[in-house]
Amino acid sequence: MPALRIALANQKGGTGKTTLAVNLAAGFHRRAATALVDADPQGSAGQWARLAGQPDDLPQVRTVGAAAVEAVIGEAARTHRYVLVDCPPHLQSGALDAVMHAVDVVLIPVQPSPLDLWASVDMADAVRDTQRRNTRLRAYLVVNQLDRRNALSGAMQQALAEFGLPALANGLTRRAAFRSAALEGGSVYALGHRGAAAAADVEAIIKEVLRS
Ligand SMILES: Nc1ncnc2c1ncn2[C@@H]1O[C@H](COP(=O)(O)OP(=O)(O)OP(=O)(O)O)[C@@H](O)[C@H]1O
Ligand SMILES: [Mg+2]
Repeated sequence: MPALRIALANQKGGTGKTTLAVNLAAGFHRRAATALVDADPQGSAGQWARLAGQPDDLPQVRTVGAAAVEAVIGEAARTHRYVLVDCPPHLQSGALDAVMHAVDVVLIPVQPSPLDLWASVDMADAVRDTQRRNTRLRAYLVVNQLDRRNALSGAMQQALAEFGLPALANGLTRRAAFRSAALEGGSVYALGHRGAAAAADVEAIIKEVLRS
């Protein structure tokens, strides 16, 4: 079976790319052979994994620059069932373009406010541009930092509907466990009961991506 290659991308900073890349990688790693490619020169996913306390919680991380990223994703796809790619928060470096040509799915984390969503409009344009050449590329918005008490506001639902890219039905709730996992260098799965609700958010996204 060919590998499923999934990138986390948004030119807007701080929307949850690395949080999703690391925790989705941990969830896929529990299913089958998984590789995590860190295409961000900041190297946050790689640093995160180097802190990891529990062996086997996170897959192996390969940190790679723009020039080699397509080759590294291709190589990882030959020996793994799932390849997750964390992208840098800008469109200029060439890394994002190279990644989007080498993956099947791009997930675009966005914050649950219409203003933040519209700050990702350049990202949506870049995706549509890539889809003309990489016709197998599927792209979905993923709402992050959802408020536990409230459903999405009407304004946000309308903004999502007008955005021109589909959104996954499942998102990540704002939870202390996502920060704790990063501080402790593991995934939310490794936090046991402290991370159970966060891991359930991640599982719902994985199942939805596998169905899509
Ligand atoms: N669902 C969540 N609940 C709580 N905290 C979160 C959640 N998602 C992300 N965070 C926190 O928000 C901050 C930014 O997240 P993250 O580093 O994953 O974003 P990023 O898009 O990778 O940022 P950059 O653009 O700098 O690469 C981090 O401190 C992270 O722990
Ligand atoms: Mg990041």
